[in-house]
Amino acid sequence: MEKELLFSEETIKGRVKALAKSISSDYKGEEPLFIGVLNGVIFFFADLMREMTVPVTMDFLRATSYGSRMNSSGVVRITKDVEIPVRGRHLILVEDIVDTGLTLSYITRKIRAEKPESLRICALIDKSERRQEKVSIDYRGFLVQGGFIVGYGLDYENRYRNLRDIYVIK
Ligand code: PRP
Repeated sequence: MEKELLFSEETIKGRVKALAKSISSDYKGEEPLFIGVLNGVIFFFADLMREMTVPVTMDFLRATSYGSRMNSSGVVRITKDVEIPVRGRHLILVEDIVDTGLTLSYITRKIRAEKPESLRICALIDKSERRQEKVSIDYRGFLVQGGFIVGYGLDYENRYRNLRDIYVIK
């Protein structure tokens, strides 16, 4: 499979640091609860958390949409839920990529019903081309128009997640 470099490891590191700095400054004096949306988020989440300078708590959820990321059906199902109670907490949902927006809009609707004190979204990649649901991303790593993206957690049929850089598949 042919792939073209989109963001190098160094570029990603720089953006992750900048995001953590901005989130840390916005949450000074707080202890936000970060919720990572598995699986693609693992490396981004781990790197982001270790750059934070305020105390953090962490939890994860896993959402699966029927069909592949190339051809999402829009039907979302939670297969692993958050375990730390979110009521009254300052939440930050962390995603590797927002594409159609269907996953995030489903998750945010569900989590809002549990009455957190606040809820913001952090996404490494905001891919706007196929957006169907309006989602407001408060902390964004990169804006990308189109293409199928792999690496740094992102997969193509479960491969390429472990690549250090981010690529577009040709
Ligand atoms: C990816 C990504 C988001 C979702 C975004 O997950 O992590 O959760 O797709 O797509 P959308 O905006 O079109 O809903 P995926 O279902 O590929 O699972 P994975 O994280 O385990 O790879």
